Amino acid sequence: MTHAANRPTQLANDRFVDNRVYSDPEVYDLEVERVFGNSWLFACHESEISNVGDYITTSNVGSPILVTRDHDERLRAYLNVCRHRGCRVVAGESGHASAFRCPYHFWVYSLEGDLVGLSGEEAYEGSGFRKEDHPLVELACQSVHGLVFVHFGENPPALVDWIGADIVGHLSEPLAHGDFVVVQRQTWELPINWKIFAENVRDGYHVPFVHPFFRKASPPGTYHVYDGGHAFQRLGMDPSGVDPDLWGQIRQYPLPGIEEGDGYIANIFPDFNVTLRSNVLSLDSQRIVSGDKVILENRTLGLADDTDEITAIRRLSHRTWFQNPVELEDMPIFRAQQEGVVSPHLRYSVIARGKDATTGSRGDDNRLRHFWHQWRSLMGTEANSIDPTMSGS
Ligand code: FES
Ligand SMILES: [Fe+2]
Repeated sequence: MTHAANRPTQLANDRFVDNRVYSDPEVYDLEVERVFGNSWLFACHESEISNVGDYITTSNVGSPILVTRDHDERLRAYLNVCRHRGCRVVAGESGHASAFRCPYHFWVYSLEGDLVGLSGEEAYEGSGFRKEDHPLVELACQSVHGLVFVHFGENPPALVDWIGADIVGHLSEPLAHGDFVVVQRQTWELPINWKIFAENVRDGYHVPFVHPFFRKASPPGTYHVYDGGHAFQRLGMDPSGVDPDLWGQIRQYPLPGIEEGDGYIANIFPDFNVTLRSNVLSLDSQRIVSGDKVILENRTLGLADDTDEITAIRRLSHRTWFQNPVELEDMPIFRAQQEGVVSPHLRYSVIARGKDATTGSRGDDNRLRHFWHQWRSLMGTEANSIDPTMSGS
């Protein structure tokens, strides 16, 4: 028996979410195909694969992925899956290779993905099998300002068009002005649906309650939402809200083109975020394992010629502005929300604050509705649900 009404008739379709979208396997399967099959997905930073043959492995929505740089220094991404019997080819998170050898029967693929080595090749004679028909499956791979994305679809739009000129322009400060490198990479496995995190980073309503330090030290700017489900917001720093010793340290070494105290957060649909805090840049993405498990991944960027002392300051700044708030304050909320939304006895949650507009302020739900607008358009649904009875009035 259900205590709550199936559908909140008093709310417009875009102002509530059917909580089943956080746990229904059918929703997740459709998202893999329609949302993640039609979006550019963040993979890594170019500095992680700066030389020919450097590679990283990752995975997302069920597929192992290999990203490398070929002999022409082009970025290439492949399904990290052998064409023989489907074994994952490359192990380990990163490395350098002249070719990729599958651990099972030792088939070998070039940096260009071609099948170049076939153990016991003569036995295939007369079978119709041809090496040239079995390269690694290539994924579209493009980068902007050093941020590398992959796409599972056949003919994706150009990455810069998909993100949009405004946000690409914002990201150029500071990314177009220096030689950036990953100074720290961290991961956390969380038992949550991927949308819990994607929504949280667009939810300004919780900030004063969950993040007391931000309330004092981080005056928010106006946000803008952009086509495609993306958003951008400037963030300030108020030194009066920060311990003077700490402020004296984290104010140092602003990134090139950035004033002391400047900051922003760019939300790139579906779930990638670039956040600037004056002297440090944080790249936060998810590797989605299943409908109820993600690996949250952080990359902290600094400059290639930073001294150890400067790197230590950037890490301190990252801990202050990102890691402590997210790890200590947001992660318990992610888990708590996931525990609640799976209940079959409460059918919907509310995202009704504020007006629909292209700009707004921290406490409204407009950025959440904007996220869901893009979700609905990719999923082909009228409401934030795949149950047709949830839409209409
Ligand atoms: S599965 Fe890769 S070589 Fe057999
Ligand atoms: Fe938060």
